[in-house]
Amino acid sequence: MKKKITEILHIKYPLIQGGLAIVSDAKLASAVSNAGGAGIIGAGGHDADWMEEQIDLARKLTDKPFGVNIVLMAEDKDEIVDIVCEKKPDFVTFGAGNPIPYIKRFQELGIIVIPVVPSLRLAKKVEAAGADALIIEGLEAGGHIGRQTTMALMTNVIVNVDIPVIAAGGISDRRGIMAAMAMGASGVQMGSRFLISEECPAHVNVKRRIVESTDIDSVILGYTIDHSVRVLKNKFVDSYLEIEYSDEPREMLKGRMRGIYAKAVVEGDVENGMIQVGQSLDVLNEILSCNEIIKRLFPDKE
Ligand SMILES: Cc1cc2nc3c(=O)[nH]c(=O)nc-3n(C[C@H](O)[C@H](O)[C@H](O)COP(=O)(O)O)c2cc1C
Repeated sequence: MKKKITEILHIKYPLIQGGLAIVSDAKLASAVSNAGGAGIIGAGGHDADWMEEQIDLARKLTDKPFGVNIVLMAEDKDEIVDIVCEKKPDFVTFGAGNPIPYIKRFQELGIIVIPVVPSLRLAKKVEAAGADALIIEGLEAGGHIGRQTTMALMTNVIVNVDIPVIAAGGISDRRGIMAAMAMGASGVQMGSRFLISEECPAHVNVKRRIVESTDIDSVILGYTIDHSVRVLKNKFVDSYLEIEYSDEPREMLKGRMRGIYAKAVVEGDVENGMIQVGQSLDVLNEILSCNEIIKRLFPDKE
């Protein structure tokens, strides 16, 4: 019998707040953890000093477990890994990159390791390397994505690994949680839902634009260069897609995304910035506190 993610992480509800580059700080993570889920401080877009500060702050804001998301493609990943090892949050998840060389180092320090994977092949690899659990993230998710849907990943992966599996991608309400659990998932990870929470420091223009958006408003950028990112349609996205699907050379396409996400979440430019968000948009229609979000996801919460 697989151990439950709630038992592994010592959390009340089987819910993880996904790492959100630039905007998942200690305040957001601790609000989620205080409400009974597992909050995450995201290293994406920040340096090791910021991470150190945020872990210290989260310790002041909550006595509940919280984690850290490390993007393994980042140039300063080694400094971030060192500081995380020193500060010892309860668990780590990994964004883009190969987590296998890091698993044992974290575990020897008592840190639980939960890689994010987009395929069964990688799920089996991280399981063989000793991961405590894994997150499968389907292409319905906001941000950088793989090529399988959440439903297909749940179908393909859950029955083929022995460690607990957390489902992510397009899960934004209680029905999504119940569907994932019915598929055998041990829990879910939500990103977009918390991006528009009150505590998330993302610019309010971004949150409002997401609230106004509907099912077909998100598209994938960078599919043709194997650098897929799910974002909301806007002026920037229109011009990007025009080049991506034209005969023009594609070398510059990856570079064209650089700094554009910050333009949206930090500066609030919702036309020339890149708003990363998942597909389950029609239930993302209110900016709520993390406590209220989790109360609605788990109505038995007292
Ligand atoms: C704005 C935004 C930023 C994200 N940044 C990261 C990141 O830095 N690292 C990571 O592993 N995943 C990142 N993700 C993915 C989330 O952690 C989560 O897996 C995903 O949002 C789940 O799908 P959903 O958006 O449909 O809830 C990001 C997602 C969004 C929407």
